[in-house]
Amino acid sequence: MTSVPVIAIDGPSGSGKGSIALMVARALGYHVLDSGALYRLLALTALEKGIAADDEAALAAAALDLPVTFEEGAPGEPARVLLAGQDVGDRIREEDVGQMASRVAAFPAVRESLLARQRAFARAPGLVADGRDMGTVVFPGAPAKIFLDASVEERARRREKQLLGQGVSANLPRLVEELRARDDRDRNRPVAPLKPAADAVVIDSTHLSREEVFQQVMAIVRQHGLA
Ligand code: C5P
Repeated sequence: MTSVPVIAIDGPSGSGKGSIALMVARALGYHVLDSGALYRLLALTALEKGIAADDEAALAAAALDLPVTFEEGAPGEPARVLLAGQDVGDRIREEDVGQMASRVAAFPAVRESLLARQRAFARAPGLVADGRDMGTVVFPGAPAKIFLDASVEERARRREKQLLGQGVSANLPRLVEELRARDDRDRNRPVAPLKPAADAVVIDSTHLSREEVFQQVMAIVRQHGLA
C-alpha cells in the first residue's frame, strides 16, 4: 500500500501506546499519527455544533471537512492540535470528548471519512501510528505491528496518576468503569473492532515500566530491519 515504513501500535485506552509511539518516533526520527485525536476532534466538533451522536451521515460529513492542523515539532514531541486554528490539545483529552469519540467511531461512514486523512500521514522517513485499527485496517501492510495491552485496573491507576499530576482529582472506581465502557464499545463494534492484527506482537504492559515496553517494541522494530 505504501513504501514508507509504518509501525502500527494498537491497544485499548490507557495502555500507554501514545507515549510509546512518541518514544519510538524520537528514536527513529519518524512522524507520528495519533489517530484517536481525529476521533476526538470529530467528537468535539459534534458536541460544539450540536450534531447528534446517532446522526451517522452528518458525522461522516463533518469528519471529511474537519478543519484540523497537526503542527509537528521535533520527532517524538507531541504535535499541537488545532481545530479551526484553535489549540484544543487539552480539551480533546477530557472524558466527555473521549466517550463521545468512542460512540462516533463505531459508525462505518465516519471511519471511511477519516481513512484517507490517516493514510496521508505516512511520509518519509517513516510513521509511527497509534490507535485501535492501525494494523488491521488503516495500515494492514505495516511491517511492524504491536498490540499493547494492560489490565483495566492498571490502566485506570495510570490515568489516575496522570490526572493527579495535572492537579485534577480522580476517582479510581469511576475511572475503571469509564475505561470498561469505552473498551466494550471499541471491542464489540462490527467495524474495525479493537483486536490485534493476526501478525501483531502482543505486549502486556501491566507489570512493565514504560522503558521496558519501549525496549521490547524497539527489539521488534529491529527484527523488521527498521532500526
Ligand atoms: O486513543 P484515544 O483514547 O484517544 O481514542 C479515542 C477513541 O477513538 C477510542 O475510544 C476509539 O473509540 C476511537 N478510535 C478508533 N480508532 C482509532 C483510534 C481511536 O476507533 N484508530
